[in-house]
Amino acid sequence: MDAREMKVKAAEAALGYVEDGMRLGIGTGSTAEEFVRLLAEKLHGGLKVLGVPTSERTARLCVELGVPLKSLDELPELDLTIDGTDEVDGNLTLIKGGGGALLREKIVAAASAQVIVIADESKVVETLGAFPLPIEINPFGMASTRIAIEKAASRLGLSGELKLRRGGEDVFRTDGGHYILDASFGRIPDAEALSAQLHLIPGVVEHGLFIHIASFAIIAGEAGARTLKA
Ligand code: 5RP
Repeated sequence: MDAREMKVKAAEAALGYVEDGMRLGIGTGSTAEEFVRLLAEKLHGGLKVLGVPTSERTARLCVELGVPLKSLDELPELDLTIDGTDEVDGNLTLIKGGGGALLREKIVAAASAQVIVIADESKVVETLGAFPLPIEINPFGMASTRIAIEKAASRLGLSGELKLRRGGEDVFRTDGGHYILDASFGRIPDAEALSAQLHLIPGVVEHGLFIHIASFAIIAGEAGARTLKA
């Protein structure tokens, strides 16, 4: 099974949790997009849901495939969100934001009664941090925010490069118009402590650590899909 087939397997398993009439948060990234494709097929077969996309990219795909969308303001409470991840550990703590949608993904997930994470085995880690942590920042005062992040990380014994994400020639902008610093800490042994420190910095809009947000994860590997619970 190649990587794409595993993503499809995880997405298929997640589709089994989608019920008629649900208000559905729809994640961002290649795994979430496999879910959107399968969902669209099911909708053509008669299933009815209303989706709230976590990014403009996901919204475009949904529109293209005929998945009906509402804004989060129209549907402020959701039944279920299905989204991918960049890393997941045994406590179901995630690093997300590889696709730059972490802020909307976190807002949508927090508005959902249940959050199912879909991923292939390569995303499962013992300790988070090999994948650089995306930190969404306000462009104003970026240099000061960078220093504040470095100091906060250092108080926790963490260090590493903070790389301003680029999109081609330009600085990458999130759907909210913010920048992203990708923080290569290597290992994040205490995600809650780092999250708390980052939230104290005014220029930090949000970070990609998702803590106590996922209900469970569906992990697809060579042997099929398994459920990962905390
Ligand atoms: C986007 C995300 C994605 O869910 C994450 O990057 C995983 O993407 P993929 O399924 O393409 O590996 O957090 O902001």
